[in-house]
Amino acid sequence: MAKVKLTIPQFKALKAQGKKFTLVTAYDVLLASIIDKTPIEMILVGDSMGMVVFGYNSTVPVTMEDIIHHTKPVVHGAPGTFIVGDMPFGSYNVSVEDAIRNANRIMKEGGADAVKLEGGAKVAHIVKAMVDGGIPVMGHIGLTPQTANQLGGFKVQGKDAAAAKQLIEDAKALEEAGAFAVVLECVPSPVAKLITEQIAIPTMGIGGGPHCDAQVLVTQDLLGMFDRFVPKFVKQYAKLNGQMVDALNQFYQESMDGTFPGPEYSFGMKEEDLKQLY
Ligand code: KIV
Repeated sequence: MAKVKLTIPQFKALKAQGKKFTLVTAYDVLLASIIDKTPIEMILVGDSMGMVVFGYNSTVPVTMEDIIHHTKPVVHGAPGTFIVGDMPFGSYNVSVEDAIRNANRIMKEGGADAVKLEGGAKVAHIVKAMVDGGIPVMGHIGLTPQTANQLGGFKVQGKDAAAAKQLIEDAKALEEAGAFAVVLECVPSPVAKLITEQIAIPTMGIGGGPHCDAQVLVTQDLLGMFDRFVPKFVKQYAKLNGQMVDALNQFYQESMDGTFPGPEYSFGMKEEDLKQLY
């Protein structure tokens, strides 16, 4: 049976029923179509592509064109999965109008079902204007990679009482602004639990512990493809990087010693036709 894309009311209903769901990232049609074969409910075309696809040291250089360009094949490859397009750094910090214009582009040109942006109470007015304009918005608090410099690096957030209280306020502000879900990145499990209990929209944890309503991972991390660094919250369910290196080494070796391509990978022709060539 074909996989059916869930809707925003259905994601909210899952939380109300105490049921969990999942989100992973994709940036191309190949991975998107593989994810679409699984029950994973959401794909994020994340600005983590800055590191994973482009090799940058941060997500900051990722552009609107990058996000739109990569959202299109993901939408094409995963028709049964809800697709969220990430709003890159600089696409929502100039003005509310600019944020709405850029979110519109991710949905109209990229084909995403929703957008995600980083920040809490400080961006709530932007989220409200976008939601009022008909744009479904996912929030993202805790470690917000686009502003990691202001946070002092890629660190766990909300570790002391004051910072944890601020995170709870941020989550509530996003809910009140109309966000349909909120990502909690690198937040102590007890704080994520409190937030999950205190808001009605789903919390989506990446380094947020087991109490979040949804679990999130970058696909290339969970498949063990991206090995430049492996954060503590990443469980590698496969070690594809090593397997890919092994396969490529074997191809090289067999091409050198002539065992590849054998007859099963080569084309022949009729003997009588061949004779006419000599
Ligand atoms: O860009 C991304 O992959 C993200 C996830 C870490 C949630 O924002």
